[in-house]
Amino acid sequence: MRLAKYLAHAGVASRRAAEGLVAQGRVAVDGAVVTDPARDVGDDHAVAVDGRAVTPEGRELHMLNKPPGVVSTARDTHGRSTVTDLVPSARRLYPVGRLDADTTGLILLTNDGELANRLTHPRYEVEKLYRVELDPRPVSEPALQALRDGVRLDDGPTLPARVNQPAPGVLEMTLREGRKRQVRRMCEAVGHRVVALRRVAFGPLELGRLGEGESRRLSDDELERLRHAGEAAKAGRSARAGGGATPSAGRRRW
Ligand code: URA
Repeated sequence: MRLAKYLAHAGVASRRAAEGLVAQGRVAVDGAVVTDPARDVGDDHAVAVDGRAVTPEGRELHMLNKPPGVVSTARDTHGRSTVTDLVPSARRLYPVGRLDADTTGLILLTNDGELANRLTHPRYEVEKLYRVELDPRPVSEPALQALRDGVRLDDGPTLPARVNQPAPGVLEMTLREGRKRQVRRMCEAVGHRVVALRRVAFGPLELGRLGEGESRRLSDDELERLRHAGEAAKAGRSARAGGGATPSAGRRRW
């Protein structure tokens, strides 16, 4: 990765401040001063700032099955239990996006700010799968179709979604946005109240058999798959849009 990014990852300074350090000739790679912040470096290089070796903090990514009542911030000012309390790690972890306190299921935590940004940035449109129980049940076919096509919310229309009803009043909804209380608001818009909401997949990762309140550290392989998920999803959609079979990239039906 670029030298300035490497330094920022290692917690030496912000990306911009790291560029300054490099420009000032304070950074050496394999013993030689480097003044180009774009210089490519990796784990096999010895990087030093003012003669002191820089060791990047190991990246960690954990999956938690969030129980109800736990808030998905790093710290809670009202003393409530938070998702970071439930994940054993020596690192300072941050949740990737949010789940409502009463939503359960898959939430990721990481100390990799860049990855967290990428996974939650609307541009990358990482798919999230929710299992939703509604009242009243069942949901009519026109209401299902409206959820698929996009419903009008006060912060704008929703993107097309995949929605099916495996049992009366139970929906599986795959969204590629993550607006505040989006599933609840979408269901309300078609006349249903959410009585239970669980996230069961995030990009290529599935909750699987992880019990409520349990977490596990993801492997490097899972991390890589996730890292590429947003890009792959985006590239796939652009390719399909470019194929001319669909009217518009943004409002396409899946
Ligand atoms: N949509 C919601 O309404 N709530 C969540 O917690 C996640 C998605």
